[in-house]
Amino acid sequence: MNVIDYLRQHIRTVPDWPSPGVQFRDITPLLQNPRVFRVLIDQFVHRYMAPDLRPDVVAGIDARGFILGAVIAYELNIGFVPIRKKGKLPFDTVSEEYELEYGSATVEIHTDAVRPGDCVLLIDDLIATGGTMMAGKRLLEKLGASVIEGAAIVDLPELGGSMLLRDAGLPLFTLVDFA
Ligand code: PRP
Ligand code: ADE
Ligand code: MG
Repeated sequence: MNVIDYLRQHIRTVPDWPSPGVQFRDITPLLQNPRVFRVLIDQFVHRYMAPDLRPDVVAGIDARGFILGAVIAYELNIGFVPIRKKGKLPFDTVSEEYELEYGSATVEIHTDAVRPGDCVLLIDDLIATGGTMMAGKRLLEKLGASVIEGAAIVDLPELGGSMLLRDAGLPLFTLVDFA
């Protein structure tokens, strides 16, 4: 079995959660099994070790993007910065509001999280409408950094987010599509 099918088998679909009509793609089984978790993380680490894609810093998006982002940053021996939901970061922040598949929210980042000119790898678990990752990109760009790539485990292409992000000039790397 190829790696992508192996990973796909460890993503659980929960129908009608958190609201009717949503097919929730649950990544927790990927994390629970240490062999699967390692295969998953290695997909990202191998890609971003390459000299032309090696970032200066990894930014992970609250909350599921933290799980992946921190481990990937550790393996790449670079720093990790959190992009958090509103009201959680204690120091000076900049904010961006965005729409979700099921609601709206605001994300924030510390103003000293990245430096102008930094090349940032932006990590989340999943791309649906793309609103979350777009907000993360805008936050990093407000601070003068450039996002070299957005990366996620899952893409839901039918929701249009990945196309929107690519059209906005953000290269993307995702592992498993669910149509
Ligand atoms: C989920 C998911 C992505 C986002 C994708 O996060 O983890 O971050 O939605 O949706 P989008 O592409 O339409 O923006 P959510 O905020 O629901 O919860 P979390 O705190 O568990 O990550
Ligand atoms: N975030 C937004 N849409 C989602 C979905 N269908 N499954 C898991 N996380 C999500
Ligand atoms: Mg999330």
